[in-house]
Amino acid sequence: MANIILVGAQWGDEGKGKIIDVLTEKSDVIVRTQGGSNAGHTVFIGTQKYVLHLIPSGILHPNKICVIGNGVVIDPLSLVKEIDGLLAMNIIVDNNFYISQTAHVVMPWHKQLDVLKEMKKGDNKIGTTKNGIGPTYSEKADRTGIRFIDFIKPERFKKLLKERLDEHNKVFVENGMEALDFNTILEQYSVAAQKLKPFVTDTVLLLHKARKAKKNILFEGAQGTFLDIDHGTYPFVTSSNTTAGGACTGSGFPPTAIDKVMAVAKAYSTRVGSGPMPSENAEIADFLHGLGREFGATTGRPRRCGWHDAVATRTAVMINGITEMALTNLDGLDEMENIKICVAYECDGTRYDYLPADLEILERCKPVYETFPGWKTPTSKVRSWNELPENTKQYLKALEKYCEVKITILSVGPARDETFNV
Ligand code: GDP
Ligand code: IMO
Ligand code: MG
Repeated sequence: MANIILVGAQWGDEGKGKIIDVLTEKSDVIVRTQGGSNAGHTVFIGTQKYVLHLIPSGILHPNKICVIGNGVVIDPLSLVKEIDGLLAMNIIVDNNFYISQTAHVVMPWHKQLDVLKEMKKGDNKIGTTKNGIGPTYSEKADRTGIRFIDFIKPERFKKLLKERLDEHNKVFVENGMEALDFNTILEQYSVAAQKLKPFVTDTVLLLHKARKAKKNILFEGAQGTFLDIDHGTYPFVTSSNTTAGGACTGSGFPPTAIDKVMAVAKAYSTRVGSGPMPSENAEIADFLHGLGREFGATTGRPRRCGWHDAVATRTAVMINGITEMALTNLDGLDEMENIKICVAYECDGTRYDYLPADLEILERCKPVYETFPGWKTPTSKVRSWNELPENTKQYLKALEKYCEVKITILSVGPARDETFNV
């Protein structure tokens, strides 16, 4: 083990939570570096299900240090709720958990703006999680955000709240929405600030010390490569850098100290919200939804589904410098007669081997498929490469070839032990 960045290679929900939980065994410190409570990372321990939104999935292992880095946008009310929920399930959240003093605070107007902006977009809406992510990052970039260092100082916070709220309430009233109440926010946020204050620290220094002490540090990506604000299917993206670079800027950990970038991808593709997805397929979606699978961990929305898009994964491998990939949900394909891999796109007679940035082109791209015979055998009990059906091996070898990456971990069920190294 070493210092590892784990990113999603698709559109989010690849199974990062589960793989982080597995990799945490050999890590000392687990760090979230971007996104916010738009993330929903599912971990099963036995039959107990946990869904983490802000706290690193590593928290489920005792004696690991978990950090929320400066790049994350934190809704303090959601965070308190998440901590209380974990404590109620006997998970320790104490001196094993730290919050960056320079992380930005999601305020109630951010959530209201998120809803308002989506409403105004009508048919062109992004389909956000309505957690105020975009507006919080916008204000961060506009240099009008509120940071944890301000939030935990009562007088400073009160002053900032007054200034910012007055500005936003003007806009809400102009748009026929109700103004937000200063006293209610002050009270709710002050209670949360007192609860969270003990966790707030200089996490850049904390990570620096951990590095010097040769600890193994694991960076838990949120969302996926094609929801990245720069490299994703803009504007149908989230508002942070979900790709490997985001782990460094979002934590203050130097790129030169990263040893490896790993990816997580599903054996097929999924996406929640609007935006292009060339290999989308209604039949697969119906099949997976019929099994009760592929409903969003944060919003409960049914996820869009399709065949594995190797064009996208290959592009993700290039952008992130991925050298190893964990493939999850292999068991989701167990009953399929035939299985396809999208190996290229075609548009107006041009073949694309990498995801085109021009959305007008991407939206019209037709998938070029290669078809493989299904294995029609349950794989959930398989724990080694040799036990896999021959057709599964052929499919996985083809995926490695088309995605240009080595698959090193296979996941055949949601539980911790339904995983093996290849
Ligand atoms: P994340 O956001 O990347 O952490 O992924 P989510 O938790 O949102 O979604 C992944 C879903 O797939 C969750 O319901 C997991 O429990 C589930 N999952 C992960 N790996 C496997 C697997 O190999 N097989 C099955 N059946 N489910 C899996
Ligand atoms: P995890 O970490 C899947 C999607 C939303 C929407 C777009 C913008 O669980 O993989 P936002 O609320 O971020 O402004 O929404 O991004 N989205 C996700 N999709 N998994 C996620 O996180 C996501 N976080 C945001 O559905 O399309
Ligand atoms: Mg998720």
